[in-house]
Amino acid sequence: MLKEKLADIEKKALSSFEKAQSTQDLYNMKVAFLGKQGELSLLLREMGKLSKEERPAFGKLANEVKRRLESHYLKRESELKEKELEERLAQEALDLTLPGPPRYLGAKHPVAMVIDEMVDIFARVGYSVRTGPLIEKDKYNFEALNIPEDHPARDLQDTFYIDEEHVLRTHTSPIQIHTMETEKPPLRILAPGSVFRCDSDISHSPNFHQMEGLLIDKKVSMADLKGTIAFFVKEFFGEGLKTRFRPSFFPFTEPSAEVDCSCPICMGQGCRMCKNSGWVEIGGSGLVNPKVLSFCGLSPEEWQGFAFGFGIERMAIIKYGIEDIRLFSENDTRFLRQFAR
Ligand code: DAH
Repeated sequence: MLKEKLADIEKKALSSFEKAQSTQDLYNMKVAFLGKQGELSLLLREMGKLSKEERPAFGKLANEVKRRLESHYLKRESELKEKELEERLAQEALDLTLPGPPRYLGAKHPVAMVIDEMVDIFARVGYSVRTGPLIEKDKYNFEALNIPEDHPARDLQDTFYIDEEHVLRTHTSPIQIHTMETEKPPLRILAPGSVFRCDSDISHSPNFHQMEGLLIDKKVSMADLKGTIAFFVKEFFGEGLKTRFRPSFFPFTEPSAEVDCSCPICMGQGCRMCKNSGWVEIGGSGLVNPKVLSFCGLSPEEWQGFAFGFGIERMAIIKYGIEDIRLFSENDTRFLRQFAR
């Protein structure tokens, strides 16, 4: 009786192992037949029914069945493992013909683009580039430019002071002084650079850029200044744009003028950018104050000059219709990529 049951279990177990389609299936079958509560263990518990003489022979038989099933299990397990590996590899195969992830090329920053373009335009009428230090002596940032001790620009609230004598330059105008001190006129120079002011909102950034221009020669007049700027405006923003001077005051120029050009976004018709005035402001200018010339050792009898200072971000804002100056320093590639050529 028991022997037949044993043979039956072996047959059922073998066929279940064969039918198992995954290693998990197979493992479940092993538990069902060979586990502690499995069919074989239950059968062995019935050995008590056998006579003393029959028991050893049956025990031996049962052990043989167990070993055969175990070795069959191992064989079947390795077959299934291989099959599963093959299936996984087929599923995970790489399609080498798919396009790769996009790679974005770097592009020039809009501030650098404006600098390069301005430098190119002024180079055509004889200007070359000068630079100066970001940390300036009070003497260069203020004193030599005829900015008196009590001028509001010197206020702690506008200027980043390094110590009593040094500031982060608040404008590029000190490069005028360095140039006149070290070079002989006639001069035509352009000085782009970073400047710093204690100010931050939608239209002010604590760090922005300016382009300084300086021409020193004999018999220089406001007409030369206006002609030069009108030429630049046409080259930079486009034909058909007018230039306008408004009387103003800067300590380092006399007379001084604020420079406007007709709004390039609406061509002077009136829009959000120009607050419906048709005009946008691009910077300050004027004839170099004789006091500044004298400070640099040039005789105002012999030499005159004009100077101008434009905001570079301001130029880009006007040219491209950008609404917030902070975009220039946030380095969001979605913003910057739009200027890629
Ligand atoms: N330095 C002035 C500023 O930062 C701008 C400026 C005005 C520069 C008139 C000039 C000039 O060279 O002539 O606001």
